[in-house]
Amino acid sequence: FKVPTPVNEPVYDYAPGTPERKALKDKLAELQSQEIEVPLIIGGKEIFTGRTAEMRTPHNHKIKLGVYHKATAKEVQMAIDAALEARKAWAEMPWEDRVAIFLKAADLLAGPWRYTLNAATMLGQSKTAYQSEIDAVAELVDFWRFNTYYMARLMEEQPYSPRGFWNRMEYRPLEGFIFAVTPFNFTSIAGNLPTAPAIVGNVALWKPASSAVYSAYFIMKLLQEAGLPDGVINFIPGSGAQVGDPVLESEHLAGIHFTGSTNTFQAMWRKVGENIHKMKYYPRIVGETGGKDFIFVHPSAKIKPLVVATIRGAFEYQGQKCSAASRMYIPESLWPEFKEMYIEEVKKIKMGEPTDFRNFMTAIIDRGAFETITSYIDYAQKSDEAEIITGGKYDDSKGFFIEPTTIVTTNPRFKTMEEEIFGPVLTIYVYKDEQFEETLELCDNTSPYGLTGAIWAQDRQALRIMSDKLRNAAGNFYINDKPTAAVVGQQPFGGARASGTNDKAGSYLNMIRWMNVRSIKETM
Ligand code: ALA
Repeated sequence: FKVPTPVNEPVYDYAPGTPERKALKDKLAELQSQEIEVPLIIGGKEIFTGRTAEMRTPHNHKIKLGVYHKATAKEVQMAIDAALEARKAWAEMPWEDRVAIFLKAADLLAGPWRYTLNAATMLGQSKTAYQSEIDAVAELVDFWRFNTYYMARLMEEQPYSPRGFWNRMEYRPLEGFIFAVTPFNFTSIAGNLPTAPAIVGNVALWKPASSAVYSAYFIMKLLQEAGLPDGVINFIPGSGAQVGDPVLESEHLAGIHFTGSTNTFQAMWRKVGENIHKMKYYPRIVGETGGKDFIFVHPSAKIKPLVVATIRGAFEYQGQKCSAASRMYIPESLWPEFKEMYIEEVKKIKMGEPTDFRNFMTAIIDRGAFETITSYIDYAQKSDEAEIITGGKYDDSKGFFIEPTTIVTTNPRFKTMEEEIFGPVLTIYVYKDEQFEETLELCDNTSPYGLTGAIWAQDRQALRIMSDKLRNAAGNFYINDKPTAAVVGQQPFGGARASGTNDKAGSYLNMIRWMNVRSIKETM
């Protein structure tokens, strides 16, 4: 078997005094000292449309990272043409050669590009060094190494041949092009969505989130350095409608690889539906959308690790992980002890610019998110059914900062228990111990989502009951752990219900979506 068996990329901790910390600090200083102009990259060529938008750090309005150019319908058409032109050579290239490009990309990222991608994510998306490292470096390296491996393993999957026949399956990329629409919150997901289909031989158009064009551009440059042929991935930042509308009307649309909001995904799906009669293929639609991820605690749970897991699950990256804990159910019997320890620990959280490595939390991505999140906090402040026990304050004078906020509600269907907030806001409902099973029922049907969830207990029988009851409530399910930080190759990631199509990123289940399979029967 030819593709190396992957192992997860080690994570640097950037401890004080280490050479890694110095290298990262130097890279941060270098990137902050220059403003860049990000073009579209279509068929390998840089295109400057003159319609630009600014890129600033979310934690400091004064730091400008540069501008990016935005695509219009004209450039989208150019990108479709370039992708279709590149398709034949790419699809017919022996797969070993495609794999070599992505293994090289992984090595470049693990080596010389490591600090660039880490620093770009820290500055552009306000992640701490550690959160950037597990995302923009380790997870993206893993996506490239594991996806090449999964693709090669899949292609070995062959049917049974009785005597007299030779049955076989032939794996090919889809016809047409893939539309990759990527989110701001994970640089790794941004890098994965266009490349997973490309590893299999597909060509793609890539629209990065407008709030994360900066790090996405560095990924694109890295892929070019790794030898990705022109036109295989076409980089077209721009507004959702200006880029999306012409793409979703194209007869050549072969698939969508999406991570983002439920509303956008549904709108895209509808648009495909409206145009399906003129499309040449039924596009493969793969999406990961919203979540309302839970922690459910049984009276037998251990409190100390639960406190740590809750804080990390709810507040790392300011609660802007799709997997972040945003609602919690805890029994009355554990509440007083948990509450005391929890409040004490949350008080220790330091918040500020990510370039100060002591900070655990930094800023929210942009003004829109800041306003949405704070409107939920304001709502809870005014309600008789809620009490805010940590945080609750926010300040956008320097950057978009929101304190780690914890709401305790007496209503298990309180607005902030039900709706996705996508920020550092955790809502807790304290249930009566004897209502354990009814509360499980509530947890299962309070939100339309099914992305991640964690259950906590030491009692094995309780774990079984919780696991069974919440069977469909989370595509990624954690026992005595936080509901975040799935690792490629270890916990394939993706949700069900309104959270997505459950095509598990970073697994062979995702790679198969980008292949057309021909079954061949030959009579001997
Ligand atoms: N892989 C990310 C997490 O699990 C989405 O937090």
